[in-house]
Amino acid sequence: MFSSHSLADLSKPEQYAALLEQAQALMSGEPNRIANAANLSALVMASLPELNWVGFYFFDGQELVLGPFQGKPACLRIPLDRGVCGAAASTRQTQLVPDVHAFAGHIACDAASRAEIVVPLIHQGQLLGVWDVDSPVAGRFDLEDQRGMQALCHLFLQTLDQNLSAPIPEYSSL
Ligand code: SME
Repeated sequence: MFSSHSLADLSKPEQYAALLEQAQALMSGEPNRIANAANLSALVMASLPELNWVGFYFFDGQELVLGPFQGKPACLRIPLDRGVCGAAASTRQTQLVPDVHAFAGHIACDAASRAEIVVPLIHQGQLLGVWDVDSPVAGRFDLEDQRGMQALCHLFLQTLDQNLSAPIPEYSSL
């Protein structure tokens, strides 16, 4: 079975290049959204340093509903006008928050969270949900992380179409 290990000693570009390769291997041939969401959460949590929550919220047509994740139990439902997740979903823009204490309306599911990055998942023009990653370290995420996380989400969305013959996306070009 696949074994993941911490990528903490690598540069961020190297971390995300390795993660993309591992994620591609994990999701290859599997179009099931829940299965891939679960493994992608586990892969990222096990591989990247200084994270305390990694996972998905899926849009049910009205609000965001908790999906597969790694970390402490979290809020079950998030309206689109609330929190960092709601902001990502409603604006369809990645939210890069260096310090959640400075983000008005942040929802503190885990009191340890200090930095957060949330990527909207848009599939065939529709809001599918969001990918949410939290860190206990303020300023943990930068534009390298944004590019890397967006590339991982791009790969995840590709699996929904079983478009697995497509090349691995270059995260630097997304
Ligand atoms: N902090 C998020 C809520 C989800 S948890 O972090 C898992 C937000 O403000 O939307």
